[in-house]
Amino acid sequence: KAEPPLRIMISGAPASGKGTQCELITKKYDLVHIAAGDLLRAEIASGSENGKRAKEYMEKGQLVPDEIVVMMVKDRLLQSDSQEKGWLLDGYPRSMSQATALKGYGFQPDIFIVLEVPEDILVERVVGRRLDPVTGKIYHLTYSPPETEEIAARLTQRFDDTEEKVKLRLQTHNQNVEDVLSMYEDITLKVKGNAPKEEVFAEIDNALSKLLESRKATSESL
Ligand code: AP5
Repeated sequence: KAEPPLRIMISGAPASGKGTQCELITKKYDLVHIAAGDLLRAEIASGSENGKRAKEYMEKGQLVPDEIVVMMVKDRLLQSDSQEKGWLLDGYPRSMSQATALKGYGFQPDIFIVLEVPEDILVERVVGRRLDPVTGKIYHLTYSPPETEEIAARLTQRFDDTEEKVKLRLQTHNQNVEDVLSMYEDITLKVKGNAPKEEVFAEIDNALSKLLESRKATSESL
């Protein structure tokens, strides 16, 4: 019988490296990457009423109301590619109510990865972050500079990536993080995110390989 696909949640402060690690995880494990922030930015880009409302909260570094976010994430999780390949949920849930809603819909992750990075480093990461609108790849002017002049010329910055706004985002994160952690204590993997991205990934990769091995061993012994 085929193994069920992996279901992963990844969490951490703003700029702790969630998106960067998700690029590396999906490349190796071929999961569907579902990032709450990306879904919201796509909604803003579409010009919808929900997008307009969401942007007001994102500008202030606050959580977008559940009535917008919860359905958006649930619908994406229910799409056939997520169900078939497995999912990597990034930046969701960020509150007790979101975690409870997710559970209520029957979505239970196999592992909850939390990236831990000291606060003083986060600001520097945010201010130097750049995005490639063509490939979606995440860069940093110092830590992950673009490979070519052509890419460098087209890089963009997120509207909430200023020092002032990241401090508000961090406040929101700190207010909610304990609540969310308490819901997934038994499956939480804390990873030190203040190391080169390849090292951070090596730790995550190791944990995921072990998880897959132990699932295989359990199913073979049945
Ligand atoms: P979201 O888009 O999720 O932003 P965030 O949580 O603030 O996280 P980031 O995307 O900023 O950072 P990241 O951890 O992905 O870091 P990255 O890999 O890019 O959310 C935005 C807003 O949407 C929220 O404020 C909220 O308003 C709303 N929202 C989202 N989810 C919501 C929800 N569930 N409910 C309600 N509202 C919600 O890395 C950052 C930089 O550091 C990059 O430049 C990268 O190159 C560099 N870097 C990464 N790793 C390393 C490393 N190991 N060493 C050196 N540099 C590194």
